[in-house]
Amino acid sequence: MSAEEISFHTSPPRTVKVHARGEDFRIVQLVGNLLVCSRAHGNCCCGWTEKGRAPVNLDLYQQEWERRRIRNKVHLSFTGCLGPCAVGNNVLLQIFGRSIWFKDLNDDALIPPIFDYIETMLRAGRVIAPPTQLASHIYERYLPPPEEGYEALGTGTTEDGGGLERLDPVCLMDVDPATARWQSEYEGRTYYFCAPGCKKAFDREPTAYVS
Ligand code: FES
Repeated sequence: MSAEEISFHTSPPRTVKVHARGEDFRIVQLVGNLLVCSRAHGNCCCGWTEKGRAPVNLDLYQQEWERRRIRNKVHLSFTGCLGPCAVGNNVLLQIFGRSIWFKDLNDDALIPPIFDYIETMLRAGRVIAPPTQLASHIYERYLPPPEEGYEALGTGTTEDGGGLERLDPVCLMDVDPATARWQSEYEGRTYYFCAPGCKKAFDREPTAYVS
């Protein structure tokens, strides 16, 4: 495996400076986001056993995501209805600028392979073909962009990862050390937190948040 191939799995996060509500914020740039259609978040079909759908094991999604320590690369979101209810249970993976739609995820045994697939792409640094086990669960929901049609919309706002020491390692929010109310020491470094919940999670298992 080349150094380039492992860069997205091991490289430190990059940030973008964003101005909002009259303030500057530092936001971690992600490789992607895994969106899981969730009854608990107001959907109408996926996971509804009363409608003959298989349950959705949100805990397993959460456990797999945390276990692999990819939170600063790929976010996990539980959402309301993603749209294609007929083919649920549905999951949308956005990664390296592509949208990968999963349908018919009716077996817990399919959840770890989704995260295996994500980790494989993080190591490769690009979108690659899905493994056999998932291939029949993937379809193209969106039209492709026009040829040469991609235009970066946030040009001029990106910067290198300076200021990472200010990031709450749990939620990845920008925290000013001068005013931070919660902090912890770990391996000779001080970490700052936006809220007591983040500090508590960090103190419980620092290695889950420091890579
Ligand atoms: S309820 Fe899941 S896609 Fe509509």
